[in-house]
Amino acid sequence: MKFSKLTDRIAELGSDKWTLHLEARKLKEHDEDIIELTIGEPDQPPADILIQKCHESMLSGRTKYSNGRGESNLLDALVNKYSKRSAKNLSADNFLCLPGTQTALYATMMTLVEENDGVLVGDPYYATYEGIIRSSGADIQSIPLHQEFGFSIQERDIRDKISPNSKILLLNSPHNPTGAVLSREELLKLVNVCEEYNLWLVSDEVYEDLIFEQSFASPMEIERLANRSIVVSSISKSHAAPGFRSGWVLAPEQVIEKMLPLAETMLFGNQPFIADMTEYAVRNPSEAAIKMKIDYERRAKLICQELANIDCIEPLMPKAGMFILLKINQENANADNFAWSLFEKQKVATMPGSSFGKNGENYLRLSLTVPDKLLQEACHRIKAFIKQKNF
Ligand SMILES: Cc1ncc(COP(=O)(O)O)c(C=O)c1O
Repeated sequence: MKFSKLTDRIAELGSDKWTLHLEARKLKEHDEDIIELTIGEPDQPPADILIQKCHESMLSGRTKYSNGRGESNLLDALVNKYSKRSAKNLSADNFLCLPGTQTALYATMMTLVEENDGVLVGDPYYATYEGIIRSSGADIQSIPLHQEFGFSIQERDIRDKISPNSKILLLNSPHNPTGAVLSREELLKLVNVCEEYNLWLVSDEVYEDLIFEQSFASPMEIERLANRSIVVSSISKSHAAPGFRSGWVLAPEQVIEKMLPLAETMLFGNQPFIADMTEYAVRNPSEAAIKMKIDYERRAKLICQELANIDCIEPLMPKAGMFILLKINQENANADNFAWSLFEKQKVATMPGSSFGKNGENYLRLSLTVPDKLLQEACHRIKAFIKQKNF
């Protein structure tokens, strides 16, 4: 049997990255003592009003085929949202609605790059980026993100890795897994290198609404970046609604024109009732985001307090998002072994940093999406684990 090269390229880049998570999910069915701190699933339901909007829309007959670009009411809401910050004029022609940021990223890579092209991305990176980039055939050009710079990408490090093949700089702010947030000043420092190498700038802004203190900055706000920027986002995190699979791409018209046949070929349109609910979500402030921000910041601080002053681990307070990193400081200790052993001995499931690229290898990522009490219990177990020198 012969399969496409694409299937070979991404063979190990799918669920292999989530082995510990999948194992924990499986065992949890029979063992309630397992504490799962693996994935970024909001721990609250979406607002009732969003479900109502969806329901009303279905009852009103919005269950038919739609056009491939997105429903006009949702496109209008997106134009309105992004026009407030964009350095260039926007219209519906700048948007394409897709099922989530994941699909939006996939469509973007398939539209812009192919074999022999390079995609520059900060390492550690969100676990699925490798698959998204490699699907297109392009190579990952990983740029180390340093703890001493708060994991913000540095122009100097981009220049070290850049080559004539580099076509895209993929940014993710707020960042998963580090919780770093790029400021407008930091984005401005990327202008020259983007212009010099004529890079597309792809900006994954899915955690935009979950910043604890700093204000959000997007390359779309910066005149010299706006024309080369492609923003991808969704209501998955901002509205605690990942299961609705509702996201979008914002890009220059010619990019959307090229992307549209790809979306039509794969999806043959969106779900109008999801579009109606998303329109409401985009036009109104998200109460879910306000609550999540407060919860996640408090829980991150709780972990920092509980695990302070322990020699071999260091909790790193994030600036945003749903996760906190623990740095493993022990010489020769491997975060993968640490994570697996912690799971086996103390039933605390975390994500080993190796799932997030080479530079993640000394870290564990803990999700902040469980109640405070359970997080506290997880911290006690981590301390017991370290005391017993189980790694
Ligand atoms: C950085 C980042 N981008 C994209 C996604 C996927 O988001 P969506 O549910 O909108 O596809 C996630 C999900 O965890 C993420 O962390």
